[in-house]
Amino acid sequence: MMKLHLRIATCLAAWAAASVYAQSPAERFVDSLMAQMSWEEKIGQLNLPSVGFDVTGPMLSTGVEEKMKQGLVGGVFNTFTPVAVRKLQDFALEHHPHHIPLLFGYDVIHGHRTILPIPLGQAASWNLHLIELGANMAAREAAADGLNWTFSPMVDIARDPRWGRVSEGAGEDPWLGSRIAEAMVKGYQMPQMQSHYSLGYPQSIMACVKHFALYGGAEAGRDYNTVDMSPYRMENDYFPPYKAAVQAGVGTAMTSFNDVNGMPATCNSFLLKDVLRKEWGFDGMVVTDYTAINELMFHGMGNGAEVAKRALLAGAEMDMVGELYLTHGDSLRKVHPEVGVAIESACRNILLAKFRLGLFEDPYRAWKEADSEVIMSAEHKELAKVSAMESMVLLKNENRVLPLNSAQKIAFIGPQVKRRRDMIGNWSGAGDWTQSRSLWDAVESWDNVSYALGCNLVQDAAMMDQLNPHGAQLSLDERSSEALIKEAVKLAKKADVVVLALGEPYGMSGEAASRSSLTLHDQQQALLEAMAATGKPVVLVLMNGRPLCLSEADGSCNAILEAWFPGTMGGDAIAALLSGEQSPSGHLTMTFPRNEGQIPIYYNHRNTGRPFDAQQKYTSKYLDVSNRPLYAFGHGLSYADYSLSNLVCERVGSELHVSYDLTRSYEGYGGPASQVTQLYLHDVNSNMTRPVLELKGFDKRDLMPGQTQTIHLVVSRNEWGYFNSDRHWVMEPGEFEVSVGFSSDQRPLQTTVVLD
Ligand code: BGC
Repeated sequence: MMKLHLRIATCLAAWAAASVYAQSPAERFVDSLMAQMSWEEKIGQLNLPSVGFDVTGPMLSTGVEEKMKQGLVGGVFNTFTPVAVRKLQDFALEHHPHHIPLLFGYDVIHGHRTILPIPLGQAASWNLHLIELGANMAAREAAADGLNWTFSPMVDIARDPRWGRVSEGAGEDPWLGSRIAEAMVKGYQMPQMQSHYSLGYPQSIMACVKHFALYGGAEAGRDYNTVDMSPYRMENDYFPPYKAAVQAGVGTAMTSFNDVNGMPATCNSFLLKDVLRKEWGFDGMVVTDYTAINELMFHGMGNGAEVAKRALLAGAEMDMVGELYLTHGDSLRKVHPEVGVAIESACRNILLAKFRLGLFEDPYRAWKEADSEVIMSAEHKELAKVSAMESMVLLKNENRVLPLNSAQKIAFIGPQVKRRRDMIGNWSGAGDWTQSRSLWDAVESWDNVSYALGCNLVQDAAMMDQLNPHGAQLSLDERSSEALIKEAVKLAKKADVVVLALGEPYGMSGEAASRSSLTLHDQQQALLEAMAATGKPVVLVLMNGRPLCLSEADGSCNAILEAWFPGTMGGDAIAALLSGEQSPSGHLTMTFPRNEGQIPIYYNHRNTGRPFDAQQKYTSKYLDVSNRPLYAFGHGLSYADYSLSNLVCERVGSELHVSYDLTRSYEGYGGPASQVTQLYLHDVNSNMTRPVLELKGFDKRDLMPGQTQTIHLVVSRNEWGYFNSDRHWVMEPGEFEVSVGFSSDQRPLQTTVVLD
C-alpha cells in the first residue's frame, strides 16, 4: 500500500508540474494523467460493470477482475461494505497501470441501510429540509459502507400512476419536483462541507440525476415505452427538475431507456449536448442506464458497433454493464476521428469526477472504523420515523374516527398488519427488511388489540409467480377466502373500531412494475366491505407505491391513511399517527384518479375551449365518470382545524410578495400538528394556453391550538414566465390569479394581480 501511495504522490507531483494552459488544478491533473494513458485504458475508464450484491437488469457483468488488471474498468456498482470495497479498490490500484481508483456506485434511493419512505412518500411531506436531511443520512451510511456515488435523485415527472416507477420520484409537479431535486442533491453532496469544485468531503457521496430525459412520459404508463412530447410540454412540465439538479451542482446524470420523439435518450445529442451541456452548463459526467447502449439495437439504431458510435458521439460517457464501448471503442476511433475525440472527452469527465471526489488523494475517502457507527444508529432511526410520519397522508377522516383513543378495543386486520418486507418498499438498497418495524410490532403492546389476517395480500397465483422470484416473500394462507373473512368479521364485531391494513406488495411498484388495474384486488375489497357491514368504524391504512383507484374502497370506510411504503420505522410512524401522538401532515404530490380511464390526470392541466359543464352536452367530460379526481394534488387532512385569511399581494422590485394568515382552531385535537399551505398562480391571458393552476410556493409550519401566524412567500419574476413552443423563454405582462389554500382543489384565498 505504501508503494501505491508513493506512486499516487508521484502522479500528483506530475500534475502540479503539468500544463499551465489547463484551467483548473483538476483539469491539469487529469490532462497529465491522460497523456500517459493508452487508448485501451482511456476506453476502460468508460466501463462500469456490476459486481456484487444486486442485479437490476437482464445482463450480468463477467470477467471483471481480469479486465481490472488491464485497466479496463472505470468503476463498479453494487459492491459495498468497507471490506468488499477496500478489497476491490486495493486490487484496482495495484493492478491498474496508472493506479487509477474506481468509482463505487449503488442505488441508494431512499436510504441506504436505514430506509426512509419511498421518494413519492417523502415528497408528500412537503418538508424540503427533512428530505435534505434524509439524503444526507443516506449519504453518511453509504459512505460508511464504502460507496462514493448514488444513482439518485430520480426526478422524472410522472402523471401516469400505471407506471410503477412513480414511487421513485416526487410526483407530478415541476416546481415542487425541482425544489426536491435541489434538496436531494444538496443532501447527498453536502455542498456546505465542500470546497468549490470538489466533492471530497468523505461523508458525502456523488449524486446522479436520472433518468435524462422524460422517462416519466412513457406511453400508457408501460415501463421503457416510447415518449413523444412537444417542446412546450418538455420545457415547462418535464425538464425543470433535471435542470434544478444541474444548477444545484449534481455530479453526474444518467440517460434514460426511452426514446424521445423518435431518438433514444442514450444516443440523443439534442438532450445530452444541446440541452444538458450547452443550455444548462452541466460539467459533470453522463452515465447510461443499465445496458441502455445495447438496447439501442432493439430501438433499431444499428448493430453493436453502430450503437456504440451513436451513443459516444451523442455524449453518453460511461457504459453501464453493456461493455459495447469496450468491445468497439478502439476500432471505431481508428476509423472515425470524432469518436476518438468523444472517448477523450468522456474519459476526462470520468477522471474529473474521481478527482472531485478526492479519490486520487485518498481512494478510501478517509474511511474509519468509527464511521460504521452511523449505520442504523438511533439518530437515523428517529429521522426515519419522523420522515415516515410526515410522509403519510390522511385522505379521509369521516366523523373524526381518527385519532383512536386508548379506551377503544381495536381490531387490526389485513395482510399488511404484520408484514415487514413491504415496509421498506422497492429500491430499498442495502436495507434489511427483517429489521423493519411492522404495524403489529408497534401496536401489539397496546391494550385491547387483536389481529386477524382477513385475506391474502396477493390472491392471484400468476402475479405471485412474477413477484416472488424478486424477493416479494408472498405466500397464500391455506384457509379459504371465506374462512379468512369470517374470522376477521368475528374479531371486528368484538372491537370498537377496525384498522384495516391493505394495499400492494412492494414489488408491484418500482422498475418493470407497471399495472393496468389500480384498484384493491377483489379479496381485499371483499374484506373491506365485510368490515363495513359490521357497522364498526373502519380505518383503512394503505401501503402502496403509487396512487391507487380507490373509488370503491372509499365508499366502504370512514378514514383512509395513505402510508406508502414507509421505511424501517414505518410501523411506529403509523401507530403514532393512529394514536394521535402526532397529527398526519402529508399532502399528495400526485393525483389519485377515480378510475384508470381518467389517466393521465394531473392538476396543472390546460383548459379546453369547452371547459367542463355538467349541464352542457358539448363540453369536455366523460359520460360515465366525473372530471375531478378522487383526491387532488395537494390534498391531505390534519386532526387539527385551520383557517386562512388576509391575503395580501405586493410587487416588490422584481418579486411578488404574498402574505396571508393561518389560524389553528382552539377547539378539537390539541396534539402536535403541522400544516401545509400552498400558493398557486394562473396566467389569465397569454399567447399560449397555460395551465389552469401552477404551484409556485408553499409553507409548512407547526401552530399551537388557537395560534395565528402570518406567512410570507416570495415568488420571483422567473416564476411567471414560460417557454413557448419554440423553446424560447417569454415573460408576458398581464393579469394573474393568485390563490392560496390547503390543496389544489381547496383554495379559499383568491385575488388577481397584474404582473409584467
Ligand atoms: C434503472 C436505474 C438504476 C440502474 C442501476 C436500471 O435498471 O433504470 O434507475 O439506477 O438500473 O441499478
